[in-house]
Amino acid sequence: MSSSWSLYVIILTVVSIIATALLLRMTSRISSDELKKQDTGHVWDGDLRELNNPLPRWWLISFYLTIIFAVLYLILYPGLGNFAGVLGWTSSGQYDAQIEQAEEKYQPIFAAFAQRTIPELAQDGAALSAGYNLFVNECAQCHGSDAGGARSFPNLADKAWLWGGAPEQIVTTITHGRQGVMPPWGAALGEDGVKETTQYVLQLGGFDHDASLASAGATRFQMFCAACHGAEGKGNPVLGAPDLTDQDWLHGSDAASIAETIKNGRQNRMPAFQERLGDERIHVVAAYVYSLSAQQ
Ligand code: HEC
Ligand code: HEC
Repeated sequence: MSSSWSLYVIILTVVSIIATALLLRMTSRISSDELKKQDTGHVWDGDLRELNNPLPRWWLISFYLTIIFAVLYLILYPGLGNFAGVLGWTSSGQYDAQIEQAEEKYQPIFAAFAQRTIPELAQDGAALSAGYNLFVNECAQCHGSDAGGARSFPNLADKAWLWGGAPEQIVTTITHGRQGVMPPWGAALGEDGVKETTQYVLQLGGFDHDASLASAGATRFQMFCAACHGAEGKGNPVLGAPDLTDQDWLHGSDAASIAETIKNGRQNRMPAFQERLGDERIHVVAAYVYSLSAQQ
């Protein structure tokens, strides 16, 4: 807030508090003589007159108390423009203190988990429930609360992996994030080329396909695609290139989705969590993710 706005807010607040106090004082000072004169002149049903009575005393006192409360509050806490209050309290300061308190409580727990291997933690109910809580807070918005994924967000609960499902591969994925880049091939392949490779990918996946188009596509596949997806289309976890022969499809397994992937490519990003979670928490959430497919 600029200092002129701050001054404006301060004046407005102080003037309204004083005005309220004066108004209360005035209305409480009406004598009974004056009261008779204060008949507003409104009469109903012949004898029901409207008077201008002073407020009941208890009501008045509670009003004064709220004014005193407001004044004390504005002296102690931030509220009057830019004035920070004599206690120096801030909401972010309170938040930081609470985080620090929580950290003191949880740090030893995560430190103890960090001493044990991920396959061990994947058998430990306490570690899994801590891992699940982290997962729901940090990961579920993209991967789903059951880790089942969605279109373009991989399922983490199955055996099919883009970047590998070994404990250290999962930890690397979460720590540094991943960038899945499937380049666009529309220009290099042309329309026919996209059609043929699409039919070949359908064949790799075990779907209905046009055999003659697919066999033309096979040649192109070796030329353009095998470098990343492997000669047999089984993928490469170093590049995050998916296995095209399994039943696990990231961007859709119908001919139109596959053709779209080949023609325009796909860019997919898993964010890095190193700064946000730190190594010990990553260890625990990785154990949770690992446990999902290890059980199968
Ligand atoms: C903003 C969305 C988003 C969030 C949040 C997110 N992820 Fe991901 N994650 C992705 C995407 C997208 C991919 C796929 C990247 C690719 O295509 O290469 C991915 C990939 C992964 C993979 C690799 C899967 C494989 O098949 O190799 C793992 C493991 C993973 N995420 C775990 C997590 C965990 C654990 C968290 C929470 C700490 C998390 N993700 C949070 C979007 C997200
Ligand atoms: C530079 C390496 C690279 C090359 C070359 C490449 N791809 Fe890919 N491809 C990828 C990566 C990485 C992904 C995963 C993208 C992601 O993470 O979303 C992918 C994804 C795909 C998918 C989507 C799979 C799914 O589960 O939805 C298909 C289909 C595909 N590629 C087919 C091809 C075909 C056909 C070619 C050759 C014309 C090809 N790719 C060439 C790296 C490559």
